[in-house]
Amino acid sequence: MTLSRPVAHLAAVGRRLARARRQRGIVGTLREAGRMVASTRSRRRTARWERRFDSEWGIDTAGIVRLTSLDIESANRDHGVRYQATDPNHFHALVDGLDVDPRDFVFVDVGSGKGRVVVLAARESFARVIGVEFSPDLDAVARRNVARLPPELRRNGRIRLLTMDATEFELPSAPLVLYFFNPFDDAVLQVVLDRIRESASVDPRPIYLLFTGPLSELPAARAELRALGAASHAGVAYEVRL
Ligand SMILES: C[S@@+](CC[C@H](N)C(=O)[O-])C[C@H]1O[C@@H](n2cnc3c(N)ncnc32)[C@H](O)[C@@H]1O
Repeated sequence: MTLSRPVAHLAAVGRRLARARRQRGIVGTLREAGRMVASTRSRRRTARWERRFDSEWGIDTAGIVRLTSLDIESANRDHGVRYQATDPNHFHALVDGLDVDPRDFVFVDVGSGKGRVVVLAARESFARVIGVEFSPDLDAVARRNVARLPPELRRNGRIRLLTMDATEFELPSAPLVLYFFNPFDDAVLQVVLDRIRESASVDPRPIYLLFTGPLSELPAARAELRALGAASHAGVAYEVRL
């Protein structure tokens, strides 16, 4: 028998609380219930502002999409994290924190999903904006979103969306700002960072990496990356230094 979504959700809540009761007693169960209420509230708040953001811009970037629900032809599919878009406040905090003139830089969103960051970056004055996404379905949504931007922001092919695996992306020969919001695990990140290092060594130029989300701390261990200040709630910025 298939349960409707609300019923299945209630059943899952019941199972979780019963497990907490068995393992952690009454106090543990009350704490678990408190955590569940807080997380539901936070999800609802996010859903509300995402709907507002999308309707203001006339785009569709909200929600969470699990990669297992998508057709993705890549050996790295299982290393990828779900689709979820950047909080615009985090994007602006990271980009504004960079002490560079965006007109001199190409901005690349590594794992661009439905294109929220591409749309945000297009509104800044970056010379070009590129999104790299390995899911054709998500990329199709991003293309529709970009098509809704004012023509002057899209002039002369300034915005490009590439349906491909990030590990195969050839970095443009220009000063770069590379943006990562939790696209994949450390194994794939390592391959991407190796490519960045290789590109920087054959073609030295300013390259900045902006990390937001859970991966923010990971690159700190890499010798070729110099952190630009401490990590903030928005994430952390690095400069490639060979
Ligand atoms: C958390 S979402 C971030 C979306 C967007 N960058 C943003 O911040 O709004 C991560 C995206 O990375 C994509 N992704 C994961 N692994 C990838 C890979 N190897 N190559 C290209 N895209 C990948 C996922 O499909 C997903 O859309």
